Amino acid sequence: MDVFAALVAAAAALLACAYLAAGLARRAKLRRLIDKLPGPRALPLVGTTHHILGTPRNKLLNKIKELGQQYGPIFRMWLGSSPEVILTKSTHFEEIINSTKHVEKSDFYKFLHPWLGTGLVTSSGQKWHSHRKMITPAFHLSILDSFIEVFADNCAILVDKLARRAGGSGFDIFPYITRCTLDIICETAMGVPIFAQEDTDSEYGRMVNDVIELTVYRRDRLWLHPDFIFYNTPAGRRYKKSLGITKGFTKKVIQERKDALSGAVKPSHESSDEDRSFGLRKKKAFLDLLLEVSGKEGKLSDEEIREEVDTFMFAGHDTTATSTAWVLFMLGHHPEIQEKVYAEQAEIFQDSKRSPTMKDLHEMKYFDRVIKETLRVYPTVPFIQRILGEDVRIDGYDIPRGTSVTMSIFLTNLDPESFPNPEQYDPDNFLPERVLGRHHFAFIPFSAGPRNCIGQKFAQLEEKTLLSYILRNFKVLSLDSREDVHPIPEIVLRPEHGIKVCLTSRT
Ligand code: HEM
Repeated sequence: MDVFAALVAAAAALLACAYLAAGLARRAKLRRLIDKLPGPRALPLVGTTHHILGTPRNKLLNKIKELGQQYGPIFRMWLGSSPEVILTKSTHFEEIINSTKHVEKSDFYKFLHPWLGTGLVTSSGQKWHSHRKMITPAFHLSILDSFIEVFADNCAILVDKLARRAGGSGFDIFPYITRCTLDIICETAMGVPIFAQEDTDSEYGRMVNDVIELTVYRRDRLWLHPDFIFYNTPAGRRYKKSLGITKGFTKKVIQERKDALSGAVKPSHESSDEDRSFGLRKKKAFLDLLLEVSGKEGKLSDEEIREEVDTFMFAGHDTTATSTAWVLFMLGHHPEIQEKVYAEQAEIFQDSKRSPTMKDLHEMKYFDRVIKETLRVYPTVPFIQRILGEDVRIDGYDIPRGTSVTMSIFLTNLDPESFPNPEQYDPDNFLPERVLGRHHFAFIPFSAGPRNCIGQKFAQLEEKTLLSYILRNFKVLSLDSREDVHPIPEIVLRPEHGIKVCLTSRT
């Protein structure tokens, strides 16, 4: 018996050794392959993190630019013992972005899981694939067409609020835009107006922003990554509370909507504000479409519906707010371009104050170029990350499966091969004849391939409506220089201290 036990123990020890040896060999191979790539010198334990963590937030983008210039177009960083491969050339994106093999998101996204679970942004594999297929019809142009009225109503409120600040010495326009896009996404995603523009202290609005801010705060502090540490800090406790309120709100709306669809109860929001409720508007919110799919095919659980609705809340308001604010910032620096935009608006609307139609929005060709050029200079989502689903070979380098790869949209947008004067702000960069000669991934602010932005059309229509309202009513002057407004790469590329403008009424 003793001999048998000794034999078993010896076999187990041998297996453990073999397992360990295989792990070490894999690790050594990974290090050998990754270290063939150029990159800054790595230190024991910390790798190259000191290059990033030691850089102030408002200098981070410049630091990444320096690294790109020194080591690009393909280089590596070591986040402790984990490699990160950075690509800065559009031609190198092809293999990853077009493939369904590399659809898994990087580690950062796990900090969104407590809120979004595995909704579209955070999921991968079969779940992502089937949900993407189910949700895509909800973004059909005919559905988006019905949202233009929601955009317009909220923009009219925005103009009213801005009119009170016009003619003064200047103010930060960013919170005004953010509250407007929050109202729009609540109404279109959940069918529920939250009136953040009227009640600037709206609890739900505050809680959503808290959750987003604290997610970034945690991501940027390595010591807060373990749950048992984070949730025992003041930030972690605040996060938990805000998260509870945010998720509770969505769950309540879903339940009410389900009851209303089954004819049991009238949603409480309907009676509290009859004019703006989705019931009376007779239009469907994304939530209604999800409920329809789930009712018909029983495919989505209540929790999955909540995850998707909250995913729209996350992906659909900060993005459009930031992008709109940067356009105003740039137009406030380029009065000649602003006047061309205004001339196009005047041609479309003549003297009418009417809200834009889908056709009007499509006719704003020059505006399109201005918005694109702003997205080039200030890309709302500056980086896209993926975990490789299989080994790939890029530019002669073998990158093993499981490696995290960052595609730097920010640096690609500054590639002189695609944009000959990359530092110059020039909407004509997007004249059709100039676009024609460019690689198809040279400009991908909404990503590309199977995991591209499902809300791209929604965002473009919303942004044009917002800007059309603002610019038809006011002349915008930016008060801070470009050097003084630092873009901070959080989840989106936001201006560090907002966007200070002076508005002059056009009427
Ligand atoms: C200017 C505005 C926007 C920009 C620049 C933008 C950009 C992007 C980018 C680059 C991605 C890919 C991210 C990645 O692969 O890591 C993405 C994904 C996504 N976006 Fe947007 N977005 C915008 C607005 C919106 C809006 C308004 C919505 C919803 C109403 C939305 C919903 C989503 C969703 C659900 C995904 C995940 C898609 C998937 O993985 O299948 N986005 N967006």
